[in-house]
Amino acid sequence: MSFSFQNKVVVVTGGSSGIGEALVRNFLAGGALVATCGRHQDKLDTLQTNIANERLYTQVADVSKEEDCRDFIENVAHKFGRIDVLINNAGMSMRALFDQLEDLSVMKRLMDINFWGCVYCTRYALPELKKSQGTVVGVSSIAGYRGLPGRAGYSASKFAMQGFLEVLRTENLHTGVHVMWVCPGFTASNIRNTALNKEGKAQAETPLKENKLMTADEVALRMMKGISRKKRTEIMTSQGKLTVFMNKWFPSLTDKLVYNFFAKEPGSPLK
Ligand SMILES: NC(=O)c1ccc[n+]([C@@H]2O[C@H](COP(=O)([O-])OP(=O)(O)OC[C@H]3O[C@@H](n4cnc5c(N)ncnc54)[C@H](OP(=O)(O)O)[C@@H]3O)[C@@H](O)[C@H]2O)c1
Repeated sequence: MSFSFQNKVVVVTGGSSGIGEALVRNFLAGGALVATCGRHQDKLDTLQTNIANERLYTQVADVSKEEDCRDFIENVAHKFGRIDVLINNAGMSMRALFDQLEDLSVMKRLMDINFWGCVYCTRYALPELKKSQGTVVGVSSIAGYRGLPGRAGYSASKFAMQGFLEVLRTENLHTGVHVMWVCPGFTASNIRNTALNKEGKAQAETPLKENKLMTADEVALRMMKGISRKKRTEIMTSQGKLTVFMNKWFPSLTDKLVYNFFAKEPGSPLK
């Protein structure tokens, strides 16, 4: 399955790994010009070498820094002349109960990357997206609909992202800008390895069997389909859809079910 984005300019934040990398590859395969960023030059160099496509532009930019986002988006608009799609994908997670955190820096870092990164990039890309009648996407999570234990900063940042994007969608009802957020299920990537522990360090392991999870390619293709069809939201798994439904209609029961689910996760801090 592939979609035509012939000569569309697509910006994907955090394209050096996981879902972002799959988006970069699939949009290039669909004929787009693609720009991506990440914090590490070596990872972006590897991406450039592996993909070897002159329609790919990469730049070191930390989305938690407003100046980096402004510079990245301005450079993309200058290089490619327009922006049709912005995918706010760059993100990190955490694994620690709120009362275990040594301080609040983990919460602040996740808000800075997952929420503010989305706000900064959207702010600077919006004038271009209005001209192109383009699309803004937020890569959210079920954690943006339902608080998940051990992920206070992550859930808060994804709730905030969704709230921001809902406002943006409503404000742009008559400008032609399409706003969507997507919620992949557990997807094979590096996110659990880089998840911050109670000391604010990468946990450097995954409690899940990564080869049994959704693939990043599957997520990328679902997202491309959603953008083509101008969908509002895309919850990608039946487990995710069920969680959102249960949380809306049976919230107390869902507290217990969610607690029990995460208590069973290997290494869970819940009893
Ligand atoms: N994997 C899942 O199970 C899952 C499920 C639901 C939602 N999501 C969401 O999907 C998105 C992508 O995650 P992933 O699973 O693909 O994780 P990943 O494999 O760890 O990739 C994260 C990407 O974001 C970049 N990044 C991280 N912090 C950044 C920053 N401050 N500035 C710029 N780039 C940054 C990373 O590059 P550098 O480290 O070089 O900066 C990397 O390219 C995230 O928003 C995540 O919340 C993932």
